[in-house]
Amino acid sequence: MALKRSYKVVNVDKVTYAARKDLDFDTRPGYMLIKKDICDLTSLPDKVECVVNFAAESHVDNSIRGSSKFMQSNTHGVYNLLELVRRMEPAKRPLFIQISTDEVYGDIIHGSFRETDPLKPSNPYSATKAAAEELVMGWGRTHGIRYKITRSSNNYGPGQSNEKFIPNIIMHANRGEKARVYGKGLNSREWTYAADNCAAIFLVMEKGKDNEIYNISSSEELTNLEVVKKVLKAVGKPTDFFEFVADRPGHDVRYSVNSTKIASLGWKPSIILDMYLASL
Ligand SMILES: NC(=O)c1ccc[n+]([C@@H]2O[C@H](COP(=O)([O-])OP(=O)(O)OC[C@H]3O[C@@H](n4cnc5c(N)ncnc54)[C@H](O)[C@@H]3O)[C@@H](O)[C@H]2O)c1
Repeated sequence: MALKRSYKVVNVDKVTYAARKDLDFDTRPGYMLIKKDICDLTSLPDKVECVVNFAAESHVDNSIRGSSKFMQSNTHGVYNLLELVRRMEPAKRPLFIQISTDEVYGDIIHGSFRETDPLKPSNPYSATKAAAEELVMGWGRTHGIRYKITRSSNNYGPGQSNEKFIPNIIMHANRGEKARVYGKGLNSREWTYAADNCAAIFLVMEKGKDNEIYNISSSEELTNLEVVKKVLKAVGKPTDFFEFVADRPGHDVRYSVNSTKIASLGWKPSIILDMYLASL
């Protein structure tokens, strides 16, 4: 998407187990991959205008099993990037965009979180993402670094790592195995198409105000049970081809964010989950 918009892209990626290795733009002009951990980066590319930090350990279950990589990549990595920006001459400093998550708010039983609501993360992953945001804001105010933060709901789309809920259901179905659903499947999430999220991030980068936070969500809210049934139907399996498994510790009941701020920049989602599933 960035290359189509004629941006030059330097992609710094550690290429962990979660990374896509089949990118069709690897050899295109204007794109360069630096295989490196953001914690170990010692300088930013010359004349960089914007750092967009997507890099993170992102799977909640992994963060419950062991959180050290999450602390390292999600928190120390952000600290390192901020320090690299701080050390530059003020006039040459890039804008810093931190890709965050709706999970930083914790759960909400009724209504939707606004950008001004306090952060109350419930698990090690979301705690490290909340900590990262605080670092960005602290470095921003004290060192005058221009920043923007996006907080997106759950994403779906092609090429997503098999550990994420929707591809995980498909992976199990393709192996003839039942999908696994935590608890009673009543936890609910909002689902946003990844390309729509990226379009919103471009809007934030190009038109959003400095030092502001933007929620990004299609507001399509579904329980995990609804998602698993939709996905199973889409891949031609019976809609009861799943099993309930012991609930995740600390499992957030419901996430919901208010997206009127990003909508005011002209953003709206282009598809709903059914449309994506019909294309599988
Ligand atoms: N997937 C979602 O539903 C969702 C929702 C909201 C926010 N987010 C955020 O969006 C970002 C991307 O999420 P994703 O689902 O694509 O994650 P992912 O886990 O699928 O991919 C993470 C990418 O970051 C890279 N990476 C990890 N640690 C790194 C490090 N220390 N240095 C350099 N590269 C590193 C990996 O190699 C991989 O390419 C994350 O910051 C995540 O918190 C994701």
